[in-house]
Amino acid sequence: MFARPHLLGIEPLHPTEITALLDRAQHYAEGARAGTRPEPVLAGLTQVNMFFENSTRTQASFEIAGKRLGADVMSMAMQASSLAKGETLIDTALTLNAMRPDLLVVRHPHAGAVDLLAQKVTCAVLNAGDGRHEHPTQALLDALTIRRAKGRLHRLTVAICGDIAHSRVARSNLILLGKMENRVRLVGPPTLMPPEVAALGVEVTDDMAAGLKDADVVMMLRLQKERMDGAFIPSEREYYHRFGLDAAKLAHAKPDAIVMHPGPMNRGVEIDGTLADDINRSVIQEQVEMGVAVRMAAMDLLAGARARAR
Ligand code: NCD
Repeated sequence: MFARPHLLGIEPLHPTEITALLDRAQHYAEGARAGTRPEPVLAGLTQVNMFFENSTRTQASFEIAGKRLGADVMSMAMQASSLAKGETLIDTALTLNAMRPDLLVVRHPHAGAVDLLAQKVTCAVLNAGDGRHEHPTQALLDALTIRRAKGRLHRLTVAICGDIAHSRVARSNLILLGKMENRVRLVGPPTLMPPEVAALGVEVTDDMAAGLKDADVVMMLRLQKERMDGAFIPSEREYYHRFGLDAAKLAHAKPDAIVMHPGPMNRGVEIDGTLADDINRSVIQEQVEMGVAVRMAAMDLLAGARARAR
C-alpha cells in the first residue's frame, strides 16, 4: 500500500499510494471533526522539524500533526544566515542523525537538497518544500480538499493560476492531478511560466477568461518574489487587473467551482479579499485543516506503521 522509506515528492508515487494516503488522511480529518482522540501511533518516536526557509502554516501543521499522534516533536530554528551550502547541510544531517530521530521534516530553499539529505540519514524524511521543486504534502492536502468538495479526484478541470515558474506547489499539484487523470490548465503571464512548460503536456494560456472556462477548481498562487531576480510583472496593480481572481473572472468557471490558495496570500494582488473569505466559494481554510490530517497520515504511514511492525 505505502511501503516507501521517505516522502520526497509526488513524482515517484503510484495513484494507489496517493489514494492510500488520502484515505488515511480522511480518517484523521473525520476524527478531528468528531472531536475523537486519534490513536497515539507515533508514541515513543522523535520528530525533528528543520526549516531552512520561512514557514508559518506548514511548520505549525507538521508540529501539530506529530503531537496529535503522540510523537516527541522538536522544531529547530534554522536561521537563513547559517544556510547551507551542500556540505553544511549534510553535516547538520549527520549530526542530527546521530541523535536517532525517527522522522525528519525538512524545508530548504534549494531544489534537490531534501533528496540529498535523505540519502545520508537512517530515518524517514518528509519534504516540506525544496526550492521550486516539490511540496508533496501541499499537493496531497489540496487533493484531499478537492476530493471532499467535488466527491472525486478524477476527470476534473483544474486551473492553476499565477506564478507557476517559481512554485513547487504548482509543480507537485500538476504531477498529482495528472496521475489521477484530471485536466490541468496553467494560467499566467508568459514571464511566470517555466521554460519547460511545453513539455508538460498541459494547456497553457495567459488569458484568465479562457483558462477558467468551465473549470471545477481554481487554484491561485502567490507571487513568489523571494525567488525572482528582477521584475517579472509590470506592477502589482496591473497584475491584479489581468490575473487577480475576483468575482468577475470567477464567473467564467463552473457555477460550483471552488477557489483555492496555499497561503500565504497577498489580498488585492493575486486574489480579492472578499472572495478569499467567501465560504460558499473559497476552501482556503479547509486546505489548512486538511493539512494537519494529511501530515498525520504521511507520518503514520512512514514511521508509525514501521514502528508497529517492529
Ligand atoms: C507555499 C510554499 O511554501 O511553497 N506555502 C505553503 O507551504 N503553504 C506557497 C507559497 O509560499 O507561496
